[in-house]
Parts: sequence; structure tokens; C-alpha cells
Amino acid sequence: MNDALGSVQSVLILGGGSDIALATARAMVARRCRTVILAGRDPESFSGAAKDLHVAGATRVESVAFDALDSASHPEFVRRMFEQYGDIDLVLVAFGVLGDQDLAEVDGDVARRIIETNFVGAVSVLVPVTNELKRQGHGTIVVLSSVAGERARKSNFVYGSSKAGLDAFCQGLGDSLVGTGVRLLIVRPGFVHSKMTEGMDAAPLATDPEHVAEAILTGLARGSEIVWAPGPLRYVMSILRHVPRVVFRRLPL
Ligand SMILES: NC(=O)c1ccc[n+]([C@@H]2O[C@H](COP(=O)([O-])OP(=O)(O)OC[C@H]3O[C@@H](n4cnc5c(N)ncnc54)[C@H](OP(=O)(O)O)[C@@H]3O)[C@@H](O)[C@H]2O)c1
Repeated sequence: MNDALGSVQSVLILGGGSDIALATARAMVARRCRTVILAGRDPESFSGAAKDLHVAGATRVESVAFDALDSASHPEFVRRMFEQYGDIDLVLVAFGVLGDQDLAEVDGDVARRIIETNFVGAVSVLVPVTNELKRQGHGTIVVLSSVAGERARKSNFVYGSSKAGLDAFCQGLGDSLVGTGVRLLIVRPGFVHSKMTEGMDAAPLATDPEHVAEAILTGLARGSEIVWAPGPLRYVMSILRHVPRVVFRRLPL
């Protein structure tokens, strides 16, 4: 249960090595979150992050194996998490791959893997997570979508379409949860300096994981359903999404 001041006390992070997720975990621990479960493909690689979270004040940090592409394992994985760690206040869906757009345009397997990770894998784990949180009677789901899903760009449409699918699914899921005690926050970051974007030229309004984490915590405190990071992207995208396609496809995006 969230504590008396409304802060999350326990969080399960799917994609536990994500820079944005770890910045969010640190910000939550600074606000009294005490249990953090980091789930990812290589749980042993989380030891440094786990140590930092302990030093910051977390009393329990666990690292567990989770693969978004292994959909068959998701129901049992989720059941085990809630059985072993009990009350989980917040589940952060942070895993994702940017992928190689050029390769994805010529190799269907590469394109499929991006969609299967970002969209199919997320849907596959979100369904059992939602069931468990509803059974628990309370909890919050935070999903890292992307500004890229708001309008597919020719330079990034495979990743963009995976996030568009995820975002649409989460909008519907969030609406279906009203009145259940469970809520869902969609996060739409723009360009974030993280492992995912290492070596790439920064886009306008680029930000860092710490600012995305603050936007998430502010959104949670306000009861928001969608947050943009940084905030002004909401206005930029509300214009860009209405630009006629013949113009949009010529923009250097
Ligand atoms: N960085 C940006 O500009 C940006 C912008 C908008 C949205 N986002 C979204 O924000 C989320 C976090 O991204 P980030 O910037 O923090 O990047 P990141 O540090 O590269 O984190 C991505 C994480 O996803 C994990 N992952 C990939 N495939 C997985 C799989 N099959 N199963 C489990 N975990 C898997 C990676 O784990 P491994 O170490 O095992 O590869 C990695 O820890 C992603 O969903 C991303 O799409 C990022």
C-alpha cells in the first residue's frame, strides 16, 4: 500500500536495467519506497544498481529474470512476483528496444522483434499484471510509451508503430480500470540521453532519465493519466500530428 503521504512503498520494474527506470527507482526510494524488484534478462548485471538503491535507503532490492520476448513465461512470472513479494504498489513497464530501422526495413525478422518486444511483450505481461493488481485491489501501472508513437516518422516507423500500438492498448486499458482501485499512467518521453540513444545526435527538447523520473513522480502525485517528458512536447506534438502527410514526410525528422 502507498504510505500515509501517498508515496509508493514497493515497485516491480520490468526492464530493470533501463536508465529511465533506474532513475525513477532512485527518485522513488528518495521518497520512502522501500522494496524494489528489478526484473530483466540479465539480473546479475543489476548488482551495482541494487547496491546504490540500498545505499539510498531501500530495505529490499531483488533482481529476478524476466524476458519480454518469452511471452509463455509471463503469467507464471507475474503470479510468482505477487506471491513472493506480496503487496506491490507500482509496476513500471520500462523494457524496450529502439532497433535498427534500416535493417528492419529489409529484414522482417528484425522488424518483428522490435514489435514483439515493445508491443506484444508488453501486452503479454500487462494482462496478468493487471489481473493481479485488480485482485490486490490497488496499485499503479506506469508504462514507458514514446513520443515516437504519436505520429510515425519515416526514419523511425517500426519503433514508432510498436509504441503507437502499446500506447493505444494502454489508453484503453487505463479506461477499463476506472473504479477498480488500479490506475495506469502512460509516459511519453521524447529523446532521452540513455543507453538506448548512446552515440545518436540529440533531438530538440532532449532530456535525461532524471527529468523523466521527476515527470513520472509529478504525474503520479497529480493523478495524471498521461505525462510528456519534457512537458512542452505535448504542444509540439499537438501541432505535428495535424501536419498534412505530404508536408510531414518532407520534414527532417
Ligand atoms: N531513450 C529514449 O530516448 C526514449 C524515448 C522514449 C521512450 N523510451 C522508452 O523508455 C524505455 C526505457 O528506455 P531507456 O531509455 O531507459 O533505455 P535503456 O537504458 O536501453 O533500457 C531499455 C531496457 O530494456 C531492456 N530490454 C530490452 N529487451 C528486453 C527483453 N526482451 N526483455 C527484458 N528486458 C529487455 C534492456 O535490457 P538488456 O540490458 O537486457 O538489453 C534495457 O534494460 C523503453 O521502453 C524505451 O522505448 C526511451
